[in-house]
Amino acid sequence: MIHTLTYESTAIKELTNADVETILETAKIFNGQNNITGCLIFYKRRFIQILEGDKEEVRTLFEKVKKDKRHKKVYLLSEGPTDQRNFQSWGMVYYPIDENDLNKNEYEQFKRNLLLLADLTSHSNQTAILFWKRMKLLITDPPNA
Ligand SMILES: Cc1cc2nc3c(=O)[nH]c(=O)nc-3n(C[C@H](O)[C@H](O)[C@H](O)COP(=O)(O)O)c2cc1C
Repeated sequence: MIHTLTYESTAIKELTNADVETILETAKIFNGQNNITGCLIFYKRRFIQILEGDKEEVRTLFEKVKKDKRHKKVYLLSEGPTDQRNFQSWGMVYYPIDENDLNKNEYEQFKRNLLLLADLTSHSNQTAILFWKRMKLLITDPPNA
């Protein structure tokens, strides 16, 4: 059985894109070595991440992530067993969706793609469903909400 877990958090205000890149690098190496798959989204200073893998490994990683000083208000949305991975072929996917980095068209296109992906991707368990639901909420929120 695969264990899956999703949480959201808020980046500290000092966090830079370079910091996000560093987090991604760490995740790629560690998760790859430990057979952990998932997806990390950074948008409007919020992180949403879903992790899949061995229960002990996912839990241990989440304990480390919770203590990470680069974000705060880490809130566990859902966790539980699942019979299949939903993010197997994704590696640790990261969407560099900081509006300031993209022009408006690119940004709108990106949002459409992500929403489409949310509809097309299989949701085999409650945790994956919640992950996509929160992601949709976050990216469709009006700008200054
Ligand atoms: C939002 C966020 C997501 C993270 N995701 C992962 C991850 O998927 N895998 C990982 O190894 N580290 C991830 N990290 C980094 C860990 O918090 C931690 O820095 C890393 O596991 C190295 O810990 P260590 O120096 O105690 O070994 C993440 C950090 C943040 C802020």
